Amino acid sequence: MRATGISNGKIILMGEHSVVYGEPAIAIPFLATAIETTIETTNGPVTLDCFFYKGPLSTAPERLLNLVTVIVETVKKLNKPLENFDITITSTIPAERGMGSSAAVAVATIRALFHYFDESLSNSVLLQLTNISETIAHNNPSGLDAAMTSGQSPLYYIKGQDFQFFPLRVTAYLVVADTGITSQTKEAVENIAELYQSAPRETDLAIKKLGLLANQAKWAIEQDQPIELGTFMTQAHEQLDSLGISNQELNHLVHTALDSGAIGAKLTGGGRGGCMIALAKNEDNAIQLSKALLQAGANHTWIYNMRKDE
Ligand code: PMV
Repeated sequence: MRATGISNGKIILMGEHSVVYGEPAIAIPFLATAIETTIETTNGPVTLDCFFYKGPLSTAPERLLNLVTVIVETVKKLNKPLENFDITITSTIPAERGMGSSAAVAVATIRALFHYFDESLSNSVLLQLTNISETIAHNNPSGLDAAMTSGQSPLYYIKGQDFQFFPLRVTAYLVVADTGITSQTKEAVENIAELYQSAPRETDLAIKKLGLLANQAKWAIEQDQPIELGTFMTQAHEQLDSLGISNQELNHLVHTALDSGAIGAKLTGGGRGGCMIALAKNEDNAIQLSKALLQAGANHTWIYNMRKDE
């Protein structure tokens, strides 16, 4: 017997980190990148075959603790024995780059297991199980990654509230660039938690400002005002940088984009590595930006049409 489950990457347009503290975020499922998990019947202990490891599930390395835990918990939830199947995960989402790969691996694997055992899976159970993995990955997840990697529509998202689907109808292109450096979401999330202890007022102000910028970005999208959207994105990058979430490579790509005609640029996701995004006013400008970013050291770029939702 054989069954599969799929998921996709995500891009946070606005609101990473501040979303953990109840501020709004805007995020896009990034269908250009995806994960597929396949479960196949065998005899004996469960095995895992993924980018980081191939072998018995029981001896998987510590870095896969979130995935191993979600597999164990899902099988427990399904009331099935943890034996007699192989798990194979293939991915085009670069790992640890702020594109939600850890949540996406969990989503695809939970879906594959439910499919394999022929049980229906509700969205709320999928999100609950995915958040087990995300909590191990970085302690205090907002739930945004779980929602985006399992969904197909952009969201205006506030932790704990119902999903608000949010069509992107702004006349602009997004260029996504990967620094090639693994992002450190856990450290970055912890860094902000520490700042809340050592400098509560300043940190709270920066988080609130990021929330305000996310709302202003929402307005700019609704009014089809790409120049304003770009300005709010760049301002959000400055706030994130002031909170210690950026690094030299991300700042270099953000400055390269702005010097090459981008109407806005910022890091996206957990930060301290991973990806950045730049806003271009048209496709030619996006192609030009993509070239400039690759020349400046990005190891991959993607171009996303922000009117493609229509
Ligand atoms: O780096 P990623 O893809 O895991 O994105 C993390 C997003 C944060 O806002 C930093 C954390 C969260 O739980 O929302």
